[in-house]
Amino acid sequence: MPVVDLWYADYLTFAAEDSLAALAATLDDDERTRMTRFLFERDRRSYAISHGLLRIILSAYAAVEPSLWRYRHNDYGKPEIAEPAQHCALRFNLSHTRGAMLCGVTRDGELGVDVEATARDASCVELADRYFSPSEVADLRRLPIDARRDRFFRLWTLKEAYIKARGMGLAIPLDQFSYAFSDGEPTPTVRISFAPPLIDDPQNWQFTERRMTPSFRAAAAVAAFDRRPATFVWRRIKSAVRNGGGAIDSEEF
Ligand SMILES: CC(C)(COP(=O)(O)OP(=O)(O)OC[C@H]1O[C@@H](n2cnc3c(N)ncnc32)[C@H](O)[C@@H]1OP(=O)(O)O)[C@@H](O)C(=O)NCCC(=O)NCCS
Repeated sequence: MPVVDLWYADYLTFAAEDSLAALAATLDDDERTRMTRFLFERDRRSYAISHGLLRIILSAYAAVEPSLWRYRHNDYGKPEIAEPAQHCALRFNLSHTRGAMLCGVTRDGELGVDVEATARDASCVELADRYFSPSEVADLRRLPIDARRDRFFRLWTLKEAYIKARGMGLAIPLDQFSYAFSDGEPTPTVRISFAPPLIDDPQNWQFTERRMTPSFRAAAAVAAFDRRPATFVWRRIKSAVRNGGGAIDSEEF
């Protein structure tokens, strides 16, 4: 059965100087260059945490030192493992927002993840009008006003998860595919549909989503290689740096 691990971390867990230094020490030269280009210390720290944790997470799947992973990127910037070459089949996707990161890992398909801070100031209906599909906007507008914000972030995270799984980012227009929710059924479901000219098959896709905390929402999309139902395992990272090594301590939630 396809398994997708979803590793979530709150940056506060890694704010101590020794944690930050240990995570930054795992970065390669390219990442260090990118990190130092950020103007604000806050952004440099976030970068060290998310990219350092990504390396330590990958090392939970293979006997590879966190600092030894090398990535390559597709034409739209999606990173994948380049070295060690024998681990190229391991797929991952990273998302970070102010204060938290989410990393999906699987051996069983193409995946994309997204985490968003929901407390940010966003004019939900206006943004939806601009970016989402007509059916999504209509569904959103039918909801009571106090339910719209949550629906907006559900849609946003799910839409980002899909375009990131496809690896094409915003080259896929967000209004050319739609989500519909059936929250009233015994098992809530999320269905995707595609409008021409976007060519894809809804049967390829499986999704999961959740409210992580009152301030963060997250979603993941996977196209499992054999289309069997995937198991999504949510893991909260409690610590990732022990004795200077790359051990990771997490709990399912
Ligand atoms: C770049 C993009 C793929 C994701 O951007 P994002 O949501 O700002 O950022 P996330 O934190 O979720 O993901 C960034 C990470 O995804 C990965 N990534 C980069 N390009 C990618 C791509 N084409 N496909 C999948 N993953 C990609 C990288 O690991 C990147 O991290 P890094 O830049 O620190 O190396 C793209 O979809 C984008 O720009 N989205 C913003 C869309 C938006 O504004 N939507 C508004 C809806 S109302």
